[in-house]
Order: sequence, then C-alpha cells, then structure tokens
Amino acid sequence: MSFKQKVVTIERHIIEGERAHPDASGKFSGLLRDLTLAVKIIWREVSKAGLVNILGTIGRENIHGEQVKKLDVFADEKIYQALDHGGHLCVMASEENEDVLHIPDKYPTGKYVLLYDPLDGSSNIDANVNIGTIFSIYRRITASGKGTMEDCLQPGYKQVASGYVVYGSSTMFVYTTGDGVHGFTLDPSIGEFLLSHENIRIPKRGKIYSVNEGNYRWWHDGMKKYVKYLQEEDKATSRPYSGRYIGSMVADIHRTLLYGGIFMYPGDTRHPDGKLRLMYEANPMSFIVEQAGGKSSNGTERILDVRPSNLHQRTPLFLGSPEDVNECEEFLQGKQTLAPAS
Ligand code: AHG
Ligand code: MN
Ligand code: MN
Repeated sequence: MSFKQKVVTIERHIIEGERAHPDASGKFSGLLRDLTLAVKIIWREVSKAGLVNILGTIGRENIHGEQVKKLDVFADEKIYQALDHGGHLCVMASEENEDVLHIPDKYPTGKYVLLYDPLDGSSNIDANVNIGTIFSIYRRITASGKGTMEDCLQPGYKQVASGYVVYGSSTMFVYTTGDGVHGFTLDPSIGEFLLSHENIRIPKRGKIYSVNEGNYRWWHDGMKKYVKYLQEEDKATSRPYSGRYIGSMVADIHRTLLYGGIFMYPGDTRHPDGKLRLMYEANPMSFIVEQAGGKSSNGTERILDVRPSNLHQRTPLFLGSPEDVNECEEFLQGKQTLAPAS
C-alpha cells in the first residue's frame, strides 16, 4: 500500500494551516466548514436545475433592479442559514439584500464578518453555463454584540479570507487566507472537496482577454484603444489575443487565474462605475488574484485599497496577469496609444 498520495479535504487543509499559526482559535475552520456545507447544498440544487421546476424568475427584482431567479434566493438563504448559528460571525451582508443581515438573537455572535454573492452569473442558469458563489471574510471592528454596517464596510485589503465556488464541468472551491490560493474539486461520490490545485499561480502574461464587447460603443477612448491593441498582430507579444467571455465573472476569472490574461468590466459613458459590486465581487476576486501573483485595478487604483462608502457600490474592474493589467492601465490613463498604422 502506498501512503505517498495524501487526500486533503478543505477541512484538513484549513486545520493544518491554522496549526501553522499558533494564535488561530479554530473558529475560522468552523466558519469555512459551515460555508462548504452551504455550497454543497447549492451545488446539489444547481446540478439538478434542469430536472426540477426551480428555474425561471419569481417575479421580483433585487435591489439593483435586476430579475431575481429562484436559485439566487435559494442560495442566499442557504448561506445565511448555514452560518447564522455557529458563533463565528457577528454580521453578514449579501448582494441580494439591501441591508446587513443580523445574527438572530437566540444565537451567539463571533469575531468575523461575511459578505457574499450567493449566485454569480445567474443569467446563465437556464443555459446550463457555469455559475458560482463568491465570499469575503473580515475580522469585526466593533467590540462585541451584534455587528454593524461599520464591520461590513471595510476596504478589501482587510480581508482575512476570500474565495469562490465554480459550479462547472466539475465543481471547484478556491480560497485564500492570505497564504496563497488553493483549489479543491468536489468528489460527488463522497461529497467532499479534495485538494486538486495547490498554490495556484497566475501566468505573468496571458493570451486571452475577457470583456463584454457588446458595450464597445460606450467605452472610453483608452479602453477602445487597448482592445484594438490586443487584436493587432504582433508575434513578439503573442497578439492577437483570443477573446473569451462567459458572462459569469467567477468562471471568467477562474479561467484567467489558470490560463492568464485579463478580465475587464470597465466603466463606460452609460455606467461610469461599470456593473460589478466592490464588496461582493471585486474585492474577494481581487484578493484571490493578488494572492496568485496577479494584479487587480479599477483603472487608476488597486481595488483592495478602495475605501467603500456603500455596501452595494459598483466599480470598474481590470484583473489578471500582472503584465497585462499594467499595460491595460497605461492605455486607460492615456500613457500608451496604438502604434501608427504601417
Ligand atoms: P450576478 O449574476 O451575481 O448579478 O452577476 C453577474 C455579473 C457577472 O457575473 C458577470 O461578469 C457580469 O454580470 C456580466 O454582465 P454583462 O451581461 O453585462 O456582460
Ligand atoms: Mn455576481
Ligand atoms: Mn449574484
């Protein structure tokens, strides 16, 4: 019998990580364990979404004025219910709810704060295309008792952990606690996420760009020039790049993490701050990308340094391979322009 190949569940990975930090209380592993339970329940529903009559909108809009689908609501509730009683959290906030989500009076509160996008890419559900869940964890700022808005409105660099789950051809859980990025693949036969991608590193430069090009006419000049630059032919810089856009940021960024390149959701003349939410999408994904050796920017500033003023604020987002994001910033800031046509 060979003992060389060890099977590492998320729980084991977290516990072993905590052992390396003697001040860790173990609360954190409990929190992530509760979260993996919720995502397994969401995965179960997502994977049978085509079988049961759970699809379709339920006729109301979320606070962003978008149609809410049944699975969004389901996922939102499951995460809250899995985490409201463990004593790890003092408050939560979700993309689907306008206000912060308090821990019920009957349960203890803890020292962490959870922000989440329960189902990302929900417009893709009906087409059986990858969707995801995104989460972001902070240490509380307030001293004790119930957490408040102040606990939730912290800049991204204060995150103690973040991650995402991508429900795809296989289901993966990818997370960081500030010590690299690790990916786990769900083995459905045993219902466990097993370590499959240890210490993910993003390539320094890629060959793929990912953006909704249908918005081209509203883009600012620098953005238009950058994408035109990527489409030019130049063997030395591997141009033209390939275009890939799924429309679920979890899936688009997961690919970017593994293959390199750049994912963009810019601001434009119609929507100056773009579409994506700082607290539920940009911050957690930026923490992951930076921990993998990548870079994340709003065009002028590091995303993780942005001081939030509103739970649901949006931000332009450019993230991925560091060299690609640097080049993109130069175009956006007008420091770089297209070579004159020869
Ligand atoms: P959500 O389903 O949580 O509202 O997020 C959808 C987001 C994101 O996943 C994706 O990158 C973006 O919307 C796609 O938007 P466009 O359709 O405007 O390209
Ligand atoms: Mn989303
Ligand atoms: Mn969502």
